[in-house]
Amino acid sequence: MEKRANFGSKLGIILASAGSAVGLGNVWRFPTEVGTNGGAAFILIYVGCVVLLGIPLMVSEFVIGRHTHKNTADAYRQLAPGTPWVFQGYLGVFTSWFILCYYSVVAGWTLKYLVSAVTGQVAAISDSTVYFSDFTSNPWMPVLYMVLVILMCHWVIVRGVQEGIEKSSKLMMPLLLMIIAVLVICSFSMPGSSEGMTFLLKPDFSKITSDVVLSAMGQAFFSLSIAMGCLCTYASYFTDDAKLMKTAGSVALIDTTVAIMSGFIIFPAVFSVAEVAPDAGPGLVFITLPNVFQIAFSHVPWLGWAFAVMFYLLLLLAALTSMMSIHEPVTAFLLERFSMSRRNATRIVTLSCVVVGTLCSLSFGPLADVRILFGMTFFDFFDFVSAKVFLPVGGIIIALFTGWKLERKMVLDELTNHGTLRSRLFPVYIFLIKWIAPLAIGLIFLNELGLFAL
Ligand code: TRP
Repeated sequence: MEKRANFGSKLGIILASAGSAVGLGNVWRFPTEVGTNGGAAFILIYVGCVVLLGIPLMVSEFVIGRHTHKNTADAYRQLAPGTPWVFQGYLGVFTSWFILCYYSVVAGWTLKYLVSAVTGQVAAISDSTVYFSDFTSNPWMPVLYMVLVILMCHWVIVRGVQEGIEKSSKLMMPLLLMIIAVLVICSFSMPGSSEGMTFLLKPDFSKITSDVVLSAMGQAFFSLSIAMGCLCTYASYFTDDAKLMKTAGSVALIDTTVAIMSGFIIFPAVFSVAEVAPDAGPGLVFITLPNVFQIAFSHVPWLGWAFAVMFYLLLLLAALTSMMSIHEPVTAFLLERFSMSRRNATRIVTLSCVVVGTLCSLSFGPLADVRILFGMTFFDFFDFVSAKVFLPVGGIIIALFTGWKLERKMVLDELTNHGTLRSRLFPVYIFLIKWIAPLAIGLIFLNELGLFAL
Protein backbone atom coordinates (compact mmCIF):
# COMPACT_ATOMS: atom_id res chain seq x y z
CA MET A 1 0.00 0.00 0.00
CA GLU A 2 1.10 3.54 -0.74
CA LYS A 3 2.72 5.42 2.16
CA ARG A 4 0.23 7.71 3.87
CA ALA A 5 0.73 11.41 3.23
CA ASN A 6 1.75 13.89 5.88
CA PHE A 7 2.46 17.57 6.22
CA GLY A 8 6.05 18.49 5.42
CA SER A 9 6.79 21.06 8.10
CA LYS A 10 5.64 22.49 11.40
CA LEU A 11 4.82 25.79 9.75
CA GLY A 12 2.68 23.91 7.23
CA ILE A 13 0.87 22.17 10.07
CA ILE A 14 0.08 25.43 11.84
CA LEU A 15 -0.92 27.32 8.72
CA ALA A 16 -3.16 24.55 7.41
CA SER A 17 -4.90 24.17 10.77
CA ALA A 18 -5.20 27.90 11.18
CA GLY A 19 -6.57 28.00 7.63
CA SER A 20 -9.28 25.61 8.71
CA ALA A 21 -10.12 27.68 11.76
CA VAL A 22 -9.96 31.11 10.16
CA GLY A 23 -12.98 31.32 7.93
CA LEU A 24 -16.28 33.01 7.36
CA GLY A 25 -16.84 32.34 11.03
CA ASN A 26 -14.20 34.93 11.88
CA VAL A 27 -14.77 37.62 9.33
CA TRP A 28 -18.50 37.27 8.83
CA ARG A 29 -20.08 35.53 11.81
CA PHE A 30 -17.93 36.89 14.64
CA PRO A 31 -18.50 40.61 13.96
CA THR A 32 -22.20 39.89 13.53
CA GLU A 33 -22.32 38.16 16.90
CA VAL A 34 -20.32 40.93 18.56
CA GLY A 35 -22.64 43.51 17.06
CA THR A 36 -25.83 41.83 18.16
CA ASN A 37 -24.52 40.73 21.58
CA GLY A 38 -23.21 44.01 22.87
CA GLY A 39 -19.53 44.39 21.95
CA ALA A 40 -16.61 44.08 24.35
CA ALA A 41 -18.33 42.04 27.05
CA PHE A 42 -19.13 39.36 24.46
CA ILE A 43 -15.52 39.31 23.33
CA LEU A 44 -14.28 38.66 26.87
CA ILE A 45 -16.62 35.72 27.31
CA TYR A 46 -15.71 34.46 23.87
CA VAL A 47 -12.02 34.41 24.75
CA GLY A 48 -12.84 32.55 27.97
CA CYS A 49 -14.68 29.90 25.92
CA VAL A 50 -11.80 29.54 23.50
CA VAL A 51 -9.33 28.94 26.33
CA LEU A 52 -11.45 26.73 28.57
CA LEU A 53 -13.36 24.70 25.97
CA GLY A 54 -11.93 25.31 22.53
CA ILE A 55 -8.29 24.54 23.13
CA PRO A 56 -8.91 21.34 25.14
CA LEU A 57 -11.27 20.01 22.47
CA MET A 58 -8.85 20.88 19.73
CA VAL A 59 -6.08 19.08 21.59
CA SER A 60 -8.34 16.02 21.91
CA GLU A 61 -8.98 15.91 18.18
CA PHE A 62 -5.26 16.25 17.56
CA VAL A 63 -4.55 13.32 19.90
CA ILE A 64 -7.08 11.08 18.18
CA GLY A 65 -5.92 11.99 14.68
CA ARG A 66 -2.21 11.84 15.21
CA HIS A 67 -2.23 8.70 17.29
CA THR A 68 -4.07 6.71 14.66
CA HIS A 69 -2.90 8.40 11.45
CA LYS A 70 -6.24 7.47 9.95
CA ASN A 71 -9.29 9.23 8.56
CA THR A 72 -11.79 10.14 11.26
CA ALA A 73 -14.11 7.16 10.84
CA ASP A 74 -11.28 4.63 10.90
CA ALA A 75 -9.58 6.46 13.77
CA TYR A 76 -12.50 5.79 16.11
CA ARG A 77 -12.78 2.24 14.79
CA GLN A 78 -9.17 1.64 15.73
CA LEU A 79 -9.39 3.22 19.16
CA ALA A 80 -12.68 1.68 20.26
CA PRO A 81 -13.49 -1.21 17.94
CA GLY A 82 -16.99 -2.56 18.11
CA THR A 83 -18.28 0.09 20.53
CA PRO A 84 -20.84 2.86 19.96
CA TRP A 85 -17.98 5.41 20.02
CA VAL A 86 -17.39 4.45 16.38
CA PHE A 87 -20.52 6.44 15.63
CA GLN A 88 -18.63 9.67 16.33
CA GLY A 89 -16.16 8.91 13.52
CA TYR A 90 -18.98 8.63 11.01
CA LEU A 91 -20.71 11.65 12.44
CA GLY A 92 -17.54 13.67 11.87
CA VAL A 93 -17.30 12.65 8.23
CA PHE A 94 -20.97 13.16 7.62
CA THR A 95 -21.09 16.56 9.31
CA SER A 96 -18.11 17.77 7.33
CA TRP A 97 -19.95 16.94 4.14
CA PHE A 98 -23.10 18.55 5.44
CA ILE A 99 -21.31 21.80 6.34
CA LEU A 100 -19.47 21.86 3.03
CA CYS A 101 -22.76 21.91 1.15
CA TYR A 102 -24.04 25.14 2.65
CA TYR A 103 -20.73 26.79 3.47
CA SER A 104 -19.98 26.74 -0.27
CA VAL A 105 -23.08 28.84 -0.92
CA VAL A 106 -21.84 31.70 1.25
CA ALA A 107 -18.30 31.21 -0.08
CA GLY A 108 -19.81 31.69 -3.56
CA TRP A 109 -21.32 35.01 -2.44
CA THR A 110 -17.88 36.19 -1.36
CA LEU A 111 -16.50 35.38 -4.82
CA LYS A 112 -19.35 37.29 -6.44
CA TYR A 113 -18.73 40.32 -4.23
CA LEU A 114 -15.01 40.15 -4.96
CA VAL A 115 -15.71 40.17 -8.69
CA SER A 116 -18.18 43.04 -8.25
CA ALA A 117 -15.69 44.95 -6.14
CA VAL A 118 -12.96 44.56 -8.76
CA THR A 119 -15.22 45.69 -11.59
CA GLY A 120 -16.32 48.70 -9.56
CA GLN A 121 -19.92 47.50 -9.22
CA VAL A 122 -19.84 47.48 -5.43
CA ALA A 123 -18.95 51.16 -5.48
CA ALA A 124 -21.94 51.86 -7.70
CA ILE A 125 -24.63 49.94 -5.81
CA SER A 126 -27.55 52.22 -5.14
CA ASP A 127 -29.51 50.01 -2.75
CA SER A 128 -27.34 47.31 -1.21
CA THR A 129 -30.27 45.37 0.27
CA VAL A 130 -31.90 45.06 -3.13
CA TYR A 131 -28.55 44.25 -4.75
CA PHE A 132 -27.97 41.44 -2.28
CA SER A 133 -31.42 39.94 -2.54
CA ASP A 134 -31.51 40.30 -6.34
CA PHE A 135 -28.29 38.36 -6.53
CA THR A 136 -29.09 35.63 -4.02
CA SER A 137 -32.56 35.03 -5.39
CA ASN A 138 -31.39 34.71 -8.99
CA PRO A 139 -31.67 31.04 -10.05
CA TRP A 140 -28.34 30.92 -11.90
CA MET A 141 -25.73 33.32 -10.68
CA PRO A 142 -25.29 32.20 -7.06
CA VAL A 143 -25.14 28.59 -8.20
CA LEU A 144 -22.51 29.47 -10.78
CA TYR A 145 -20.34 31.23 -8.20
CA MET A 146 -20.82 28.41 -5.75
CA VAL A 147 -19.68 25.87 -8.34
CA LEU A 148 -16.63 28.02 -9.14
CA VAL A 149 -15.61 28.12 -5.49
CA ILE A 150 -16.13 24.39 -5.07
CA LEU A 151 -13.97 23.79 -8.15
CA MET A 152 -11.19 25.91 -6.65
CA CYS A 153 -11.37 23.79 -3.52
CA HIS A 154 -11.43 20.62 -5.64
CA TRP A 155 -8.32 21.75 -7.47
CA VAL A 156 -6.41 21.97 -4.19
CA ILE A 157 -7.72 18.77 -2.62
CA VAL A 158 -7.03 16.62 -5.66
CA ARG A 159 -3.35 17.57 -5.38
CA GLY A 160 -3.15 15.94 -1.99
CA VAL A 161 -1.88 16.91 1.42
CA GLN A 162 1.55 18.42 0.82
CA GLU A 163 1.19 19.65 -2.74
CA GLY A 164 -2.40 20.81 -2.31
CA ILE A 165 -3.45 21.71 1.21
CA GLU A 166 -0.05 22.58 2.66
CA LYS A 167 1.26 24.56 -0.30
CA SER A 168 -1.90 26.59 -0.77
CA SER A 169 -2.21 27.29 2.97
CA LYS A 170 1.37 28.55 2.99
CA LEU A 171 0.45 30.91 0.21
CA MET A 172 -3.02 31.99 1.24
CA MET A 173 -2.63 32.40 5.00
CA PRO A 174 0.24 34.92 4.94
CA LEU A 175 -1.62 36.86 2.26
CA LEU A 176 -4.74 36.80 4.41
CA LEU A 177 -2.87 38.03 7.49
CA MET A 178 -1.28 40.82 5.48
CA ILE A 179 -4.60 42.00 4.13
CA ILE A 180 -6.01 42.05 7.65
CA ALA A 181 -3.15 44.24 8.87
CA VAL A 182 -3.60 46.72 6.02
CA LEU A 183 -7.37 46.88 6.49
CA VAL A 184 -7.11 47.44 10.24
CA ILE A 185 -4.84 50.41 9.63
CA CYS A 186 -7.18 51.79 6.95
CA SER A 187 -10.17 51.38 9.19
CA PHE A 188 -8.52 53.09 12.18
CA SER A 189 -7.53 56.05 10.10
CA MET A 190 -11.12 56.79 9.12
CA PRO A 191 -12.55 59.87 10.82
CA GLY A 192 -14.94 59.02 13.64
CA SER A 193 -13.62 55.48 13.98
CA SER A 194 -12.90 55.82 17.70
CA GLU A 195 -16.52 55.17 18.55
CA GLY A 196 -16.18 51.76 16.95
CA MET A 197 -13.07 51.12 19.01
CA THR A 198 -14.92 52.00 22.20
CA PHE A 199 -17.72 49.62 21.25
CA LEU A 200 -15.16 46.85 20.89
CA LEU A 201 -12.99 47.66 23.88
CA LYS A 202 -15.24 48.91 26.67
CA PRO A 203 -17.15 46.04 28.26
CA ASP A 204 -20.66 46.74 29.41
CA PHE A 205 -21.40 43.82 31.69
CA SER A 206 -25.06 44.70 31.96
CA LYS A 207 -25.39 43.31 28.42
CA ILE A 208 -24.39 39.84 29.50
CA THR A 209 -27.24 37.38 29.68
CA SER A 210 -27.08 33.62 29.62
CA ASP A 211 -28.00 33.80 25.99
CA VAL A 212 -24.91 35.87 25.26
CA VAL A 213 -22.73 33.33 27.07
CA LEU A 214 -24.22 30.50 25.06
CA SER A 215 -23.79 32.38 21.79
CA ALA A 216 -20.16 32.95 22.67
CA MET A 217 -19.62 29.23 23.24
CA GLY A 218 -21.31 28.31 19.98
CA GLN A 219 -19.26 30.86 18.11
CA ALA A 220 -15.99 29.65 19.67
CA PHE A 221 -16.79 26.13 18.54
CA PHE A 222 -17.66 27.04 15.02
CA SER A 223 -14.71 29.31 14.64
CA LEU A 224 -12.16 26.80 15.85
CA SER A 225 -13.55 24.07 13.52
CA ILE A 226 -14.17 21.76 16.41
CA ALA A 227 -16.20 18.54 16.47
CA MET A 228 -16.42 17.86 12.75
CA GLY A 229 -13.48 15.64 12.11
CA CYS A 230 -11.63 18.45 10.32
CA LEU A 231 -8.91 18.92 12.90
CA CYS A 232 -8.79 15.20 13.55
CA THR A 233 -8.19 14.51 9.87
CA TYR A 234 -5.54 17.21 9.59
CA ALA A 235 -3.86 15.86 12.72
CA SER A 236 -3.64 12.44 11.11
CA TYR A 237 -1.17 14.07 8.70
CA PHE A 238 0.89 15.66 11.49
CA THR A 239 4.46 14.49 11.87
CA ASP A 240 5.51 12.71 15.05
CA ASP A 241 7.51 15.66 16.30
CA ALA A 242 4.63 18.15 16.07
CA LYS A 243 3.82 19.56 19.52
CA LEU A 244 0.09 19.13 19.88
CA MET A 245 -0.58 21.50 22.78
CA LYS A 246 1.57 24.21 21.28
CA THR A 247 -0.03 23.82 17.87
CA ALA A 248 -3.51 24.08 19.39
CA GLY A 249 -2.44 27.20 21.29
CA SER A 250 -1.02 28.82 18.16
CA VAL A 251 -4.07 27.98 16.05
CA ALA A 252 -6.43 29.35 18.70
CA LEU A 253 -4.33 32.48 19.02
CA ILE A 254 -4.28 33.12 15.27
CA ASP A 255 -7.99 32.39 15.01
CA THR A 256 -8.96 34.70 17.86
CA THR A 257 -6.65 37.46 16.68
CA VAL A 258 -8.16 37.33 13.20
CA ALA A 259 -11.68 37.41 14.63
CA ILE A 260 -10.96 40.42 16.82
CA MET A 261 -9.07 42.16 14.02
CA SER A 262 -12.08 41.64 11.77
CA GLY A 263 -14.09 43.45 14.41
CA PHE A 264 -11.49 46.21 14.33
CA ILE A 265 -11.86 46.42 10.57
CA ILE A 266 -15.61 46.44 10.47
CA PHE A 267 -16.77 48.44 13.49
CA PRO A 268 -14.58 51.54 13.22
CA ALA A 269 -15.61 51.69 9.55
CA VAL A 270 -19.29 51.19 10.40
CA PHE A 271 -19.23 53.78 13.19
CA SER A 272 -17.39 56.30 11.05
CA VAL A 273 -20.47 56.23 8.84
CA ALA A 274 -23.14 57.10 11.34
CA GLU A 275 -26.00 56.02 9.09
CA VAL A 276 -25.62 52.30 9.52
CA ALA A 277 -26.10 50.30 12.70
CA PRO A 278 -23.54 47.87 14.14
CA ASP A 279 -26.14 45.26 15.00
CA ALA A 280 -27.31 44.78 11.43
CA GLY A 281 -27.08 40.99 11.68
CA PRO A 282 -25.92 38.56 9.00
CA GLY A 283 -26.23 41.16 6.26
CA LEU A 284 -23.43 43.16 7.90
CA VAL A 285 -20.69 42.32 5.42
CA PHE A 286 -22.83 41.96 2.30
CA ILE A 287 -25.36 44.72 2.85
CA THR A 288 -24.01 47.20 5.40
CA LEU A 289 -20.39 47.27 4.30
CA PRO A 290 -20.96 48.22 0.65
CA ASN A 291 -22.75 51.32 2.01
CA VAL A 292 -19.86 52.03 4.32
CA PHE A 293 -17.37 51.79 1.45
CA GLN A 294 -19.40 54.23 -0.58
CA ILE A 295 -20.12 56.81 2.08
CA ALA A 296 -16.74 56.74 3.80
CA PHE A 297 -14.75 57.00 0.63
CA SER A 298 -17.01 59.23 -1.42
CA HIS A 299 -14.24 61.81 -1.68
CA VAL A 300 -11.50 59.30 -2.67
CA PRO A 301 -13.29 56.61 -4.68
CA TRP A 302 -10.16 54.67 -5.55
CA LEU A 303 -9.49 54.09 -1.85
CA GLY A 304 -13.02 52.79 -1.44
CA TRP A 305 -12.39 50.48 -4.39
CA ALA A 306 -9.15 49.18 -2.87
CA PHE A 307 -10.75 48.67 0.55
CA ALA A 308 -13.65 46.72 -0.95
CA VAL A 309 -11.41 44.54 -3.14
CA MET A 310 -9.12 43.69 -0.24
CA PHE A 311 -12.00 43.01 2.09
CA TYR A 312 -13.79 40.55 -0.20
CA LEU A 313 -10.51 38.91 -1.17
CA LEU A 314 -9.93 38.39 2.54
CA LEU A 315 -13.36 36.79 2.90
CA LEU A 316 -12.76 34.51 -0.08
CA LEU A 317 -9.33 33.36 1.12
CA ALA A 318 -10.71 32.69 4.57
CA ALA A 319 -13.62 30.72 3.13
CA LEU A 320 -11.46 28.68 0.77
CA THR A 321 -8.95 27.44 3.35
CA SER A 322 -11.84 26.40 5.59
CA MET A 323 -13.63 24.64 2.75
CA MET A 324 -10.50 22.64 2.05
CA SER A 325 -10.53 21.41 5.62
CA ILE A 326 -14.15 20.30 5.36
CA HIS A 327 -13.66 18.63 1.97
CA GLU A 328 -10.61 16.63 3.06
CA PRO A 329 -12.19 14.53 5.86
CA VAL A 330 -14.81 13.18 3.47
CA THR A 331 -12.31 12.65 0.67
CA ALA A 332 -9.85 10.91 3.03
CA PHE A 333 -12.63 8.64 4.27
CA LEU A 334 -13.70 7.53 0.78
CA LEU A 335 -10.12 7.19 -0.34
CA GLU A 336 -8.98 5.00 2.54
CA ARG A 337 -12.10 3.04 3.36
CA PHE A 338 -12.96 2.15 -0.22
CA SER A 339 -9.39 2.13 -1.58
CA MET A 340 -10.25 4.70 -4.21
CA SER A 341 -7.84 6.96 -6.00
CA ARG A 342 -7.64 10.49 -4.58
CA ARG A 343 -8.94 11.78 -7.90
CA ASN A 344 -12.11 9.71 -7.75
CA ALA A 345 -12.73 10.32 -4.07
CA THR A 346 -12.38 14.07 -4.59
CA ARG A 347 -14.71 13.93 -7.58
CA ILE A 348 -17.45 12.18 -5.64
CA VAL A 349 -17.30 14.69 -2.79
CA THR A 350 -17.21 17.66 -5.14
CA LEU A 351 -20.08 16.42 -7.29
CA SER A 352 -22.33 15.55 -4.38
CA CYS A 353 -21.61 18.91 -2.84
CA VAL A 354 -22.51 20.69 -6.07
CA VAL A 355 -25.86 18.89 -6.19
CA VAL A 356 -26.85 19.48 -2.59
CA GLY A 357 -25.24 22.94 -2.50
CA THR A 358 -27.42 23.90 -5.46
CA LEU A 359 -30.51 23.06 -3.44
CA CYS A 360 -29.22 25.20 -0.58
CA SER A 361 -28.40 28.04 -2.91
CA LEU A 362 -31.78 27.90 -4.64
CA SER A 363 -33.51 28.16 -1.31
CA PHE A 364 -32.86 31.91 -1.55
CA GLY A 365 -34.64 31.96 -4.91
CA PRO A 366 -36.91 29.49 -6.72
CA LEU A 367 -36.97 27.05 -3.79
CA ALA A 368 -37.65 29.70 -1.17
CA ASP A 369 -41.06 28.23 -0.52
CA VAL A 370 -39.88 24.67 -0.15
CA ARG A 371 -39.82 23.93 3.56
CA ILE A 372 -38.28 20.62 4.44
CA LEU A 373 -38.63 20.53 8.21
CA PHE A 374 -40.07 22.84 10.87
CA GLY A 375 -40.58 25.55 8.27
CA MET A 376 -36.91 25.61 7.34
CA THR A 377 -35.58 26.02 3.81
CA PHE A 378 -32.78 23.73 2.59
CA PHE A 379 -30.15 26.28 3.56
CA ASP A 380 -31.61 26.92 7.01
CA PHE A 381 -31.97 23.22 7.60
CA PHE A 382 -28.35 22.44 6.74
CA ASP A 383 -27.16 25.36 8.82
CA PHE A 384 -29.32 24.47 11.79
CA VAL A 385 -28.65 20.74 11.84
CA SER A 386 -24.91 20.99 11.44
CA ALA A 387 -24.07 24.02 13.55
CA LYS A 388 -26.65 23.59 16.25
CA VAL A 389 -27.15 19.85 16.53
CA PHE A 390 -24.17 17.90 15.16
CA LEU A 391 -21.60 20.36 16.44
CA PRO A 392 -22.51 20.27 20.12
CA VAL A 393 -23.30 16.56 20.03
CA GLY A 394 -19.93 15.88 18.42
CA GLY A 395 -18.21 18.13 20.95
CA ILE A 396 -19.68 16.32 23.94
CA ILE A 397 -18.81 12.92 22.51
CA ILE A 398 -15.21 13.93 21.79
CA ALA A 399 -14.83 15.34 25.30
CA LEU A 400 -16.29 12.21 26.90
CA PHE A 401 -14.27 9.94 24.63
CA THR A 402 -10.89 11.50 25.44
CA GLY A 403 -11.72 12.24 29.07
CA TRP A 404 -13.32 8.96 30.06
CA LYS A 405 -12.67 6.28 27.48
CA LEU A 406 -9.16 6.73 26.10
CA GLU A 407 -6.31 5.31 28.08
CA ARG A 408 -4.73 8.14 30.08
CA LYS A 409 -1.22 6.95 29.29
CA MET A 410 -1.82 6.99 25.58
CA VAL A 411 -3.11 10.58 25.74
CA LEU A 412 -0.13 11.64 27.84
CA ASP A 413 2.26 9.90 25.47
CA GLU A 414 0.76 11.69 22.52
CA LEU A 415 0.84 15.09 24.21
CA THR A 416 4.42 14.74 25.42
CA ASN A 417 5.64 13.09 22.22
CA HIS A 418 6.45 9.94 24.19
CA GLY A 419 7.89 11.68 27.20
CA THR A 420 10.13 14.13 25.40
CA LEU A 421 8.03 17.21 26.21
CA ARG A 422 6.98 18.62 29.57
CA SER A 423 3.47 17.91 30.76
CA ARG A 424 2.71 20.59 33.34
CA LEU A 425 -0.65 21.45 31.83
CA PHE A 426 -1.77 17.86 31.47
CA PRO A 427 -3.86 17.71 34.69
CA VAL A 428 -5.56 20.98 33.77
CA TYR A 429 -6.35 19.64 30.32
CA ILE A 430 -7.77 16.43 31.74
CA PHE A 431 -9.94 18.29 34.23
CA LEU A 432 -11.34 20.56 31.52
CA ILE A 433 -12.03 17.78 29.08
CA LYS A 434 -13.48 15.40 31.63
CA TRP A 435 -15.80 17.75 33.46
CA ILE A 436 -16.02 21.29 32.21
CA ALA A 437 -16.37 20.65 28.49
CA PRO A 438 -19.16 18.04 28.59
CA LEU A 439 -21.16 20.04 31.11
CA ALA A 440 -20.78 23.37 29.37
CA ILE A 441 -21.51 21.99 25.93
CA GLY A 442 -24.49 20.10 27.28
CA LEU A 443 -25.78 23.44 28.46
CA ILE A 444 -25.40 25.05 25.05
CA PHE A 445 -27.11 22.18 23.38
CA LEU A 446 -30.12 22.00 25.65
CA ASN A 447 -30.52 25.73 25.48
CA GLU A 448 -30.36 25.75 21.67
CA LEU A 449 -33.07 23.16 21.60
CA GLY A 450 -35.04 25.36 23.96
CA LEU A 451 -35.27 22.65 26.60
CA PHE A 452 -34.85 25.14 29.36
CA ALA A 453 -35.62 28.77 29.07
CA LEU A 454 -32.41 30.39 30.33
N1 TRP B 1 -13.92 27.41 11.37
C1 TRP B 1 -14.38 27.84 10.11
C2 TRP B 1 -14.85 29.25 10.18
O1 TRP B 1 -14.56 29.93 11.11
C3 TRP B 1 -15.46 26.98 9.53
C4 TRP B 1 -15.20 25.56 9.68
C5 TRP B 1 -14.27 24.84 9.05
C6 TRP B 1 -15.84 24.72 10.59
N2 TRP B 1 -14.29 23.57 9.51
C7 TRP B 1 -15.24 23.48 10.45
C8 TRP B 1 -16.84 24.92 11.50
C9 TRP B 1 -15.63 22.46 11.26
C10 TRP B 1 -17.23 23.88 12.30
C11 TRP B 1 -16.62 22.66 12.21
O2 TRP B 1 -15.48 29.73 9.30
